[in-house]
Amino acid sequence: MVNAGCRARRTQKSFLLYVIVRPTKENIGRAAEIIKNGGIVAFPTETVYGLGADAFNAEAVKKIFAVKGRPVDNPLIVHIAEVGDLIKVALRPSSGQDAFIEKIIEAFWPGPLTLVFKKRDEIPSVVSAGLQTVAVRMPAHKVALRLIKAAGVPIAAPSANISGKPSSTTAHDVYVDFGDTIPLVLDGGRTKVGVESTVLDLTVDPPVILRQGGVTFEELREIIPNVLRSGGLGVGSGKAPGMRHKHYAPRAPLVLALAARMVQDIQRFIVENQDERVGVLATLENADSYKGARVVVIGSRNNLAECARNLFASLRKFDKLKVDIIISEVFSREGLGSAIMERLEKAASAF
Ligand code: TXA
Ligand code: MG
Repeated sequence: MVNAGCRARRTQKSFLLYVIVRPTKENIGRAAEIIKNGGIVAFPTETVYGLGADAFNAEAVKKIFAVKGRPVDNPLIVHIAEVGDLIKVALRPSSGQDAFIEKIIEAFWPGPLTLVFKKRDEIPSVVSAGLQTVAVRMPAHKVALRLIKAAGVPIAAPSANISGKPSSTTAHDVYVDFGDTIPLVLDGGRTKVGVESTVLDLTVDPPVILRQGGVTFEELREIIPNVLRSGGLGVGSGKAPGMRHKHYAPRAPLVLALAARMVQDIQRFIVENQDERVGVLATLENADSYKGARVVVIGSRNNLAECARNLFASLRKFDKLKVDIIISEVFSREGLGSAIMERLEKAASAF
């Protein structure tokens, strides 16, 4: 089970253990054993890497909050591998809603959509941060699904990053954040979607999007024509408790360019800050316009899926480039542009 290129550590017993491992059947089995025994492991999903524990085990879940430095008022998403497992964690909705919820699940699961239901008592309050609701999702990633099945329990998992930092889209990012403080990272390569799941509250009528993510507003509206966006149309913003906290922030302060005359605004910013190392988060189309700055290209403006996939890796790159300040291009809030903008705005508001 020797894995070339993985990170090793020496235990007190002095044998080598590998933290980052290929997701072989054997290693998924090891990860499942750790979960069953009340430990935590990192694993890939189609959105970002997760840091998981047995969702029914309060002590195990507390370890996640401890290693991430996560505020205790920020609830976790419970991951399941089969629709049939939903009933183990969530209360059955009122009978009139059944068909409607089935339709949503059929359209988007497995996939980057998290659904908020009333919770069952079996879900400890540490998972839901004291709320009477539980957020549930079925990830579209075979390693995640195999791990949940092998563990035999739903897995509570936030994104696998130190609280406040950009989420992890590779096993290496997870290792950079946590080192040996977690015993195992299943390496599924780079994640495909790159932004987290969309969080949809189904305990209210009409349903409200609490966090934009991999499933777009436009896609949801096809199935739920009256779906609302948190913060829009008079709906109280920030109902997803996590949205209140610092998020996605690279080390250097990040500001957003003005949408009107965006390229010129960034050029002026570079000149005005010429005594500092300025980083620019740029799209491919404009990357050559920012002379004198350290430019990280997020992707083509015409390919928002690519930009979403590269978003967190790009933000993390600025840490390596050791810039003093970052200015980012902006996107129109269409399709995945909404999820990208929500994250950039959070990253910018951290300072
Ligand atoms: O794609 C994802 O969702 C990733 C992967 C690992 O599945 N997970 C993830 O988890 O992004 P986390 O903990 O970083 O973000 C969970 C979000 C937070 O904004 C949290 O406040 C919200 O979901 N949330 C969790 N439970 C909730 C609940 N009961 N009611 C409202 N919001 C909830
Ligand atoms: Mg997170």
